[in-house]
Amino acid sequence: MRGRILALFAGRGTLVQPEALELLLSQPDPEGLAGRVLASLPKEKLILSAMDVRAVLGGPAPAGGGAAGAGAPATEPRPAEGPSCAPEAAPRGVRVLKDVTGGSTCEGRIEDFVGYFNDRLARLRRILRGRRELAGAVPVGSLRSRRHEREVRTVGMVSDVRRTQNGRTIAEIEDETGTFRILLPAESPANLMRDEVVGVVGKLSNDGDLLWVQSIVRPDIQISRQPHLAGRPVCAAFISDIHVGSKTFLEDRWRRFVAWLNGREDRHQDYARRIEYLVVSGDVVDGIGVYPDQEEDLLIRDVYRQYQVLAELLKEVPDRVRVLMLPGNHDAVRPAEPQPTFPPEISRLFDSRIAFLGNPCLFSLEGVEVLAYHGMSIADFVSTIPGLSFNTPIEVMKEMLRRRHLAPVYGDKTPLAPESRDWMVLDTVPDIFVTGHVHGAGLENFRGVVLVNASTWQSQTDYQRMMNFNPVPCRVAVVDLASLEWRTVSFDQ
Ligand SMILES: [Fe+2]
Ligand SMILES: [Fe+2]
Repeated sequence: MRGRILALFAGRGTLVQPEALELLLSQPDPEGLAGRVLASLPKEKLILSAMDVRAVLGGPAPAGGGAAGAGAPATEPRPAEGPSCAPEAAPRGVRVLKDVTGGSTCEGRIEDFVGYFNDRLARLRRILRGRRELAGAVPVGSLRSRRHEREVRTVGMVSDVRRTQNGRTIAEIEDETGTFRILLPAESPANLMRDEVVGVVGKLSNDGDLLWVQSIVRPDIQISRQPHLAGRPVCAAFISDIHVGSKTFLEDRWRRFVAWLNGREDRHQDYARRIEYLVVSGDVVDGIGVYPDQEEDLLIRDVYRQYQVLAELLKEVPDRVRVLMLPGNHDAVRPAEPQPTFPPEISRLFDSRIAFLGNPCLFSLEGVEVLAYHGMSIADFVSTIPGLSFNTPIEVMKEMLRRRHLAPVYGDKTPLAPESRDWMVLDTVPDIFVTGHVHGAGLENFRGVVLVNASTWQSQTDYQRMMNFNPVPCRVAVVDLASLEWRTVSFDQ
């Protein structure tokens, strides 16, 4: 029975979490139920959780949980409380769903690159094949033979993109069967990025050498997705880029934030006292040797000492708060993404309330799925897509979701490790997506996903002044996990 159920989901490319399997097996007709659960899932669902099974058994688990949201009266967050209509409480605590830590296989051989790009293509193609606009898509290698057809569809990876003098875009797409040239009209809004995987709909030229593109189809995210919600009105706070060790680390404002968490500042305590998770999206210290002449900007020139000071600062965070921390490009881990988490020499400096994650990492907080990524690749998006800038990180994050990829461009501004699995592919769409890195601050709902660009605790550096970049420091984004309602609390004064 167990094997049959697993095979049923595996056939659709869905992994079954152990809790979900146990729940299925505990019901009177496990196989019948599995069939109903399968029918209820969106096509590209990668992981089946117990929440998904419960949704079929008794309606969405924390239905009505949203009512307990932003305006909820300030009550003590006693564990037993929560929306009374929830048939079963959502899972408590933190669960890591996807993280390269301990799973890096990369040795930088040619075979690694082949496996890496093949994995990216296969997984994104699976999502794209589910799109109506791409029904009947043919392999890239068979395009030439279809020049008499009115319209052709294919899926491939963009291997080269150039602008022609008259503003058109000429590109090359490829898959395992071949490569092909495609031409986009000057007015096309597609903004192809190198190494992204797209669907192409168009018509072949008379000689069968070129595909005139009518539309580019992206994996994108569904508009009508049902977010996971926590079973009690608990909150998560999102911050980033603390940069401890820098002369421009804003220690006084950090201390005010921590005082607020401890109930020592009046405003918005309805949120503060419910915060039980604090997510830190990288660049937790300033590091050493990250950019030329960095020593001049450092207050603490020993990187271990920087982490020690951070560990001391985090001790003031109240005990009820679990801290989750991932590295960024300033941290003492390998620079190539995906970055495994901090090594033991660093993590042992911290107390046991700190959970160390890789970058990027998909994890759940009380059932709510959070994708955290430091955000190095924002630079690649900004340099490729007109209209995007370091001041519009939320718009960049939407482009990542549309492409279902955090860092498509290989070999430009983002160092990427060619792992046998492409960890930057977004098989599942998170409920909350958080980045940092650009030292901005943004919060927005996008198609049912809460997008957070978490703010920094560092004021403008000389380097940023030279680059004409103005940070937006000391904003804390707080999200109510039972309703996904949010607010920003500023400590920048
Ligand atoms: Fe940073
Ligand atoms: Fe950064």
